[in-house]
Amino acid sequence: MKQYYLKTMGCQMNEHDSEVIAGLLLSLGYEPTDSVDEADLILYNTCCVRENPERKVYGHIASYRRLKELKPDLIIGICGCMTQQKNELKQIMKRLPHVDLIFGTHNIHRLPELLDRVQSGERIVEVWDEAPYTEGQDYRDSLPKERQSRLKAFVNVIYGCTNFCSYCIVPYTRGREHSRLPENILSEVRSLAEAGYKEITLLGQNVNAYGKDLSIDTNFSTLLAELNTIEGLERIRFTTSHPRDMGDDLIAALADLDKVCEHLHLPVQAGSNDLLRRMNRGYTREYYLDLVDRIRKSVPHISLTTDLIVGFPGETDEDFAQTLSLVEEVGFDSAFTFIYSPREGTPAAKMENQIPEEIKKERIYQLIELQNKISAEHMDKLVGRTLEVLVEGESEDGVVGRTRTNRQVYFPGSPDLIGQLTQVQVLEASTWTLKGEMV
Ligand code: SAH
Ligand code: SF4
Ligand code: F3S
Repeated sequence: MKQYYLKTMGCQMNEHDSEVIAGLLLSLGYEPTDSVDEADLILYNTCCVRENPERKVYGHIASYRRLKELKPDLIIGICGCMTQQKNELKQIMKRLPHVDLIFGTHNIHRLPELLDRVQSGERIVEVWDEAPYTEGQDYRDSLPKERQSRLKAFVNVIYGCTNFCSYCIVPYTRGREHSRLPENILSEVRSLAEAGYKEITLLGQNVNAYGKDLSIDTNFSTLLAELNTIEGLERIRFTTSHPRDMGDDLIAALADLDKVCEHLHLPVQAGSNDLLRRMNRGYTREYYLDLVDRIRKSVPHISLTTDLIVGFPGETDEDFAQTLSLVEEVGFDSAFTFIYSPREGTPAAKMENQIPEEIKKERIYQLIELQNKISAEHMDKLVGRTLEVLVEGESEDGVVGRTRTNRQVYFPGSPDLIGQLTQVQVLEASTWTLKGEMV
């Protein structure tokens, strides 16, 4: 049997695309391997949202040149977001001439034919500008998916992004927003529940825009209400929400629907109105703070997480201080913090006053320190409380699972508990994980 080594970078959309790629490869008779040395096919599903993951791809793939000399039949492939940018694609072809197969985010279904042609000696570069899509039907709907977990599943609801935040490359790599029909999503989730899946995470760059592009009258909160009735399914999560599009109906869904978990990832990016405006985020600091207030009033124990960027062009000390004060005021449960990385083709990359690397670093350290302190305080408050935990796997001395608010909990117990909901009392907290015992 032929073996494939699949490396995935970037966000959950990419992780889920990799599950589709794995599904296709299995159907072609390949099996997975963790070892590049044993692989007959090495495939990198790439991310270009920041420069770092891109650099890694060049580094890794360059180092596989030697493998290919030893094993001429080895196929090396690159797919995912990097390939969707014309200039990056040129760079890949120039700097990595030993790559045999390049395809994009819009033509994963072409993999079987493309692999076949590579095997007969062709070098393939096939990248499409848009995904095949008709009336709520994305081309991935009908493809096999080999999911990583037997308990938790990613389910796409909307593809693409048309927000064009001024720093972000995603709208250029993932195309325009297009939603899946509710009946397609519901039937996928029903089969997952029948197969024993307990939790789904609905995916989209902006799930709150779900349904807007469809001709039928639906929206994200309606979809959640329908999913909430599916028997066997225990937990519904979703990511990502755009603050601008977060309506009262979605807040009500979080409060009222029993399967919808009390966790909201609500990227704010920055705390100053000038930066938010120049980022093209479509909301103000005051709007965001008021939104958080309303959410917390309706869902008191909700866990709020966010994304933050430091060093956006023109960010002054005062702007940055506003980010720190917003972080303090909201008190996020946790945050992903990023150093601004100029992306070719985006408006922000051409802005004046790009911030020097040392200042960016100084700022991110300060931000991380503040957020870690706040995260630890949230965790400490949980000691003594009893929480519902979905047991997901074995750990060194027991099992590990997650709370509805997506916190990891370790506790003594037998592997038979995997897949079950249990009540766990929290005994100990660190910044990232909890320890407890079953009650
Ligand atoms: N659709 C999601 C996030 C997609 S990218 C949303 O809008 O929230 C994930 C995160 O990467 C973003 O929230 C942002 O914080 C960060 N990011 C995007 N482009 C970036 C850039 N050029 N430099 C640094 N961070 C960036
Ligand atoms: Fe990027 Fe903004 Fe779209 Fe998120 S909403 S993917 S940050 S353009
Ligand atoms: Fe990266 Fe593409 Fe996701 S650029 S963050 S993998 S949509």
